[in-house]
Amino acid sequence: MQTALRTSLPETELASRANFAPHARVVREERAAQTSGLPLSIRGLRKSFGDNEVLRGIDLHIPAGQFVAIVGKSGCGKSTLLRLIAGLDKIDAGTISFGSDVQPEDIRVMFQEPRLLPWAHVLANVEVGLGRDRSSADAHARAEKALTEVGLADKRDQWPSVLSGGQKQRVALGRALVSRPRVLAFDEPLGALDALTRISMQRLLERVWRDQGFTAILVTHDVSEAVALADRVLVIEEGRIAHDVVVNAARPRERGSAELAGLEGSILSHLLSADDRT
Ligand SMILES: Nc1ncnc2c1ncn2[C@@H]1O[C@H](COP(=O)(O)OP(=O)(O)OP(=O)(O)O)[C@@H](O)[C@H]1O
Ligand SMILES: [Mg+2]
Repeated sequence: MQTALRTSLPETELASRANFAPHARVVREERAAQTSGLPLSIRGLRKSFGDNEVLRGIDLHIPAGQFVAIVGKSGCGKSTLLRLIAGLDKIDAGTISFGSDVQPEDIRVMFQEPRLLPWAHVLANVEVGLGRDRSSADAHARAEKALTEVGLADKRDQWPSVLSGGQKQRVALGRALVSRPRVLAFDEPLGALDALTRISMQRLLERVWRDQGFTAILVTHDVSEAVALADRVLVIEEGRIAHDVVVNAARPRERGSAELAGLEGSILSHLLSADDRT
């Protein structure tokens, strides 16, 4: 059964909206056994802000568990598309559907800024991702497991203010992972990090994606990051998917290899030729 996601919730409710379904406990128990990704189908998706027609008919199918990167020039609608997928904004026309009924905790977004609560310790910040499950008996254990997955178990009792930028982003990733999402969308999550930290975070993202099997949608400005991580790179131009590039390179990928460099060059030339036309 396909279910259109039509919720429109402010970002501040991202965590708290989890688990609103009355049968959430049963669903969660089922999910504990299977945390695989959800497929995603988008048909005729349109979104405008006033006269500004941002998305003008997006058609897209993402198979369950695929890692998709989305690139395109600034203002082309990448964040808008992610927000619609995550149910954070209302669609004007078209449908966004998943392969089965979705629960709010199935879909998570990680943003460029870590958005941590400054008055809460690291572990409590991760627990926020559990939504109403924060009060459950195993909340600490689940949050500790997520912190371990992102390599920060030893920081559990620290304040966010003493963490580095990369560590803060890892806490944000732990918070996104703690509910075992089936679709995880990233809006330039590594954009503010230095080059080395960025590469180490890219490896972490790839590892947790491989371990957990969620469907990953990564918006990035960095085409080399897109080809290093994704199975497929989508280029958005003029409100539509203008190019859909498959990345078949075997994993683990060798950064800087001729294969990845060639793909990166061809995607960059698409982006630059689009820029020349405007
Ligand atoms: N809430 C909003 N109200 C009005 N206009 C908006 C709103 N959100 C986005 N827009 C407009 O929609 C267009 C697409 O914005 P969006 O943030 O999706 O672009 P983007 O591709 O993510 O850009 P960037 O790469 O700079 O992050 C822009 O013209 C932007 O001004
Ligand atoms: Mg954006």
